[in-house]
Amino acid sequence: MGQPLYFYPETDTTNDRIRELALEGAPEGTLAVAELQTAGRGRRGRAWQAPAESGIWMSLLLRPEIPPAQASVLTLLAGIALTEAIEDVTGMEVGIKWPNDILLNGRKLVGILTEMDCDMERIHSVTLGIGINVQTEVFSEELKEIATSLFLESGKRFDRAALTGAVLEAFTELYEAFVSAGGSFAPFRKRYCRKCLNIGREVLVLGAEAYAAEALDITPEGELLVRRKDTGKTEVVFSGEVSIREKK
Ligand code: BTN
Repeated sequence: MGQPLYFYPETDTTNDRIRELALEGAPEGTLAVAELQTAGRGRRGRAWQAPAESGIWMSLLLRPEIPPAQASVLTLLAGIALTEAIEDVTGMEVGIKWPNDILLNGRKLVGILTEMDCDMERIHSVTLGIGINVQTEVFSEELKEIATSLFLESGKRFDRAALTGAVLEAFTELYEAFVSAGGSFAPFRKRYCRKCLNIGREVLVLGAEAYAAEALDITPEGELLVRRKDTGKTEVVFSGEVSIREKK
């Protein structure tokens, strides 16, 4: 993972660079890293602020031989790799807000955007886009209450290349085991749950219909199991957005 490596002083979004490289036949493990993204993309059509010299903005090309329906597990594995690597390098404890936001002291430190090219049976390529706020000193008015950086939480300057290497190393181990296991999340569930912040907390499930619930567990498929406050029924949340609320 990480070879070949394409470095862009400035690009619109590393996810598009990797998608283009994938269409040209680039191998699995190809990495695109940008110093500055002018049109960084977040999940759900949001923008991702990626100014120069402040973070790690990177995208990794994967070509897993697993059913397309299993591809969303890659994001969960990236979450495990990121929490473990960040803790090793910085000594600070981070957690995962299901499915894949990495939080530090309650604020978002890392975002993951996974995009895929596939047909019904086969994955052609997956682009795993990762944004880590490392040196950011100031966030916009809109983000300052919900986002943070390693610098803001520790006052320390962490080496971005070293952290990138640690993330790739941690992800490689998980990815190889995952592909060998035929694309099953079950062997990694416990490791994910150890870092998952939602379990046992009250959450707001946002989707076609918003409702309050208690997060009970992560299923062997990687979905969030919740008990609705209004009906008392147990439901499985497949994707979408949850916000964590303080338990009353
Ligand atoms: C999110 O909304 O939480 C996902 C943010 C993902 C940001 C990263 S930065 C590198 C890659 N390129 C992008 O345009 N987005 C991802």
